[in-house]
Amino acid sequence: MTQHALDSRVILAVRDRPNKASVTLVCPSSHRKIDNCVYKDGFMPYQPVISVFGLGYVGCVTAACFADLGFRVVGVDVDARKVRAIRDGQSPFYEPGLEPLIKKHLANGRISATESTAEALRDADYAFLCVGTPSAPNGNLNLDYLRKVSQDIAANLDGRTKPLTVVVRSTVFPGTCDEVVAPEVGGKAAVVANPEFLREGTAVKDFMEPSLVVVGSHDREASERVAALYTGLPVTTSVVALRTAELIKYTCNTFHALKIAFANEIGTLSAALGLDGAEVMDTVCKDTKLNISKAYMKPGFAFGGSCLPKDLRGLTYRARQLDLELPLLNSVLPSNDAHIGRAFHRVMDTHARKIGVYGLSFKPDTDDLRESPGVALIERIIGKGCDVKIYDPYIQLDAIYGSNQAFLLNALPHIGRSMETNLEAILAWAEIVVVTQEPNAESKQLLANSPIPVINVAGTNQIGSASLAATR
Ligand SMILES: NC(=O)c1ccc[n+]([C@@H]2O[C@H](COP(=O)([O-])OP(=O)(O)OC[C@H]3O[C@@H](n4cnc5c(N)ncnc54)[C@H](O)[C@@H]3O)[C@@H](O)[C@H]2O)c1
Repeated sequence: MTQHALDSRVILAVRDRPNKASVTLVCPSSHRKIDNCVYKDGFMPYQPVISVFGLGYVGCVTAACFADLGFRVVGVDVDARKVRAIRDGQSPFYEPGLEPLIKKHLANGRISATESTAEALRDADYAFLCVGTPSAPNGNLNLDYLRKVSQDIAANLDGRTKPLTVVVRSTVFPGTCDEVVAPEVGGKAAVVANPEFLREGTAVKDFMEPSLVVVGSHDREASERVAALYTGLPVTTSVVALRTAELIKYTCNTFHALKIAFANEIGTLSAALGLDGAEVMDTVCKDTKLNISKAYMKPGFAFGGSCLPKDLRGLTYRARQLDLELPLLNSVLPSNDAHIGRAFHRVMDTHARKIGVYGLSFKPDTDDLRESPGVALIERIIGKGCDVKIYDPYIQLDAIYGSNQAFLLNALPHIGRSMETNLEAILAWAEIVVVTQEPNAESKQLLANSPIPVINVAGTNQIGSASLAATR
């Protein structure tokens, strides 16, 4: 790429933002993006060099796709056959669309391969670690390859003047970058987690049209440098904390596995009922407000109410009658109970005896108390001999009747003695306040102004001036 190809407006933008590390350059005639470039020393184009350690599925795709985005890429592997394959313009394994990219960029000099760490690092600005992290029999990760490659890199950094950013692309559990990679290379190179989300079989397409790009580091500038490498792709890179980036990869794969297992169990039940599971799930997926959406996708308190627990019990009961094994669906109510148990232990761990509770109904804006997890929590706290006072802006005891009242009185027969009509009275009395649902604005303010510690089991956000939200 030459300087005259640059759009003058882009150059002006660079001049206006001298600290901006990376810009997307646009061809003035076609208005299409030109390669990714990082500008250093005025306006001389500088293309970062990327070394990729590990030329397996992830490494090869990463190397070929970054070359296709315009970077010079050096691939490294301890396996001489993989290095030779790249040098011969071949993919070391079958992946649609990969070999043509390798051939093309071998020919134009953007891709090379070596067994030498020193050679790979010589010009590199980035070292992407794509080595395997296989499972031990107990599920723990074998980090030997990651440790070894970090040591290999560290051994080649003494005396180096060019900055290096080490980017961990392998799937690793939160804390691994800090505990395995940084101790080797830290101080000499920035460490960034940038997990890979590609799927074998569509890996090139997944790289070029990413579902998600996540980077995380203790070094914000290093995160932004790595994020800038993806500027040309149709994605907004998510910059998060280092360990958050590591966990997001696990969360995504666990969610995908959960979706498959869920669909299969619904399919199994459908078949046993003589129904078409595909039609059931296709129709379920048409609901993009509640089903395929952000709804219910935040950590918070347990579910309850008059429908979810009842219907789960009904469905799993009928499945048992049909002799179906549906372990995932059977695990949902126990999981919910365990969540109430965790909240209970958080409260007990404070050793407080006078406990205020905000929220009795199963969610805000309703006075439905049936199967409310707040009621279940209070029942357990009272069972431990603690004094409890409860405030819920939506509950008026004398207005509750029928099955709602029956459920409440069965769980908390002396509820009349525990209910308060205002939060101030609770704050004047309690040692701690437990929040079981998102408080209304007025209550949030009162909690924030009070010195009473708050345990917010409704979410991870801090509520109150002395929150205990993060204790567990
Ligand atoms: N395969 C996938 O679909 C996929 C998708 C996303 C994430 N991941 C994760 O990415 C990582 C890599 O997966 P993969 O399937 O590409 O693994 P892989 O086993 O196919 O490739 C790993 C490569 O690393 C090389 N290697 C080992 N030690 C080395 C060293 N010291 N220096 C240079 N190279 C070295 C090996 O020879 C091998 O070629 C894993 O953590 C995996 O969980 C994989």
